[in-house]
Amino acid sequence: SLPTTFDRPVHIAVIGGTGLSSLPGYHPVAALTPNTPWGLPSSPILILEHAGVPVAFLARHGLHHQLAPHEVPSRANIAALRSIGVRSVIAFSAVGSLREEIKPMDFVLPDQIIDRTKGVRPFTFFEGGVVGHVGFADPFDARLADVVQRCANAMRGDGVTLHRGGVVVCMEGPQFSTRAESHMYRLLGGSVINMSTLPEAKLAREAELAYQMICMATDYDCWHDSGDVDVAMVMGYMRANSENAKHLVGAVLDELCKQDSGDLVLAKHWEGSAQGAVKFM
Ligand code: ADE
Repeated sequence: SLPTTFDRPVHIAVIGGTGLSSLPGYHPVAALTPNTPWGLPSSPILILEHAGVPVAFLARHGLHHQLAPHEVPSRANIAALRSIGVRSVIAFSAVGSLREEIKPMDFVLPDQIIDRTKGVRPFTFFEGGVVGHVGFADPFDARLADVVQRCANAMRGDGVTLHRGGVVVCMEGPQFSTRAESHMYRLLGGSVINMSTLPEAKLAREAELAYQMICMATDYDCWHDSGDVDVAMVMGYMRANSENAKHLVGAVLDELCKQDSGDLVLAKHWEGSAQGAVKFM
C-alpha cells in the first residue's frame, strides 16, 4: 500500500472521467485523502511521478465508478486538490456529440459552457459569510488549451483528432436528453454534451485554478439518426479510444511538467481572481 502523505506541493492535477483511470509512464508514489470543510474527495488522490515531477490524479466518479454525476463531491474535490498545492487542472470527460463533424472518438477542447444543471448540486464556495463573485465569461484556460492542442497535433498520425474550441452543454442527468432537448441544444450552439463540467469548472475558478476540460466524444446524442445513445455505446467508444486518451493526457502532463519547473506561469494568471476569499488549508 502507498504512503498517505507527500512532502512537496503538487502543482498539476488530472481529474479523470469515465474511462480514464490511469496514466502511462506515471508511477504512483502516494495516495492522499485530505479531509476538507466540504468533506472527502471522490477517491484518494493518487500522486504520480514522472521524471521527478509529481502530478495529482483524481477519479471523479470514485475508484469503482460508484458516484453518479449529481453525486460527485465537487467542492471537496477542488478544495482537496487546492489544499495539496494544485494550481492547474486538466479535467477529462466523456461527451455526446451535437455536431456531425465531431465524430465518436474525437477530442474537443471546449472554450464555453451552457449550464443546464438544475441547481441541485452544491455549486459554490461563497456562502456562510463568505460573499464573492468571480468572472466566468471565459470558463476555461486558453494557455492550458494551447498545450493540449500542441500535444494532440503531434499525435495526429496516431489517429487523434482534436477540435479546438466549442460549447459544452452540461445537463443535470443522470437520464440522457429527450430528442427535442437534443435538437434545442444544437440550436443554442452546443457542440458537445455531458453531465460533469459543472459545478467543477465554477469551483475551479473560485479556487483560482487554471482549468481546462478535454472532452472525448463517445456517441452522437439522440438528435442524430445513428441510433440513440445508451451506456453500452458510451462505454464501447470509451474503451476503444482509452489508449489514445491516456497517451494524450500523458503527453500533456509531460509538457506541463516542463513548464512547472519554470515558475507556475499558467496559474499566475488566475491569482487573485476570487480575491483569495476562500481558505483551503
Ligand atoms: N456523456 C456521454 N455521452 C453523453 C450524452 N449523449 N449526453 C449526456 N452526457 C453524456
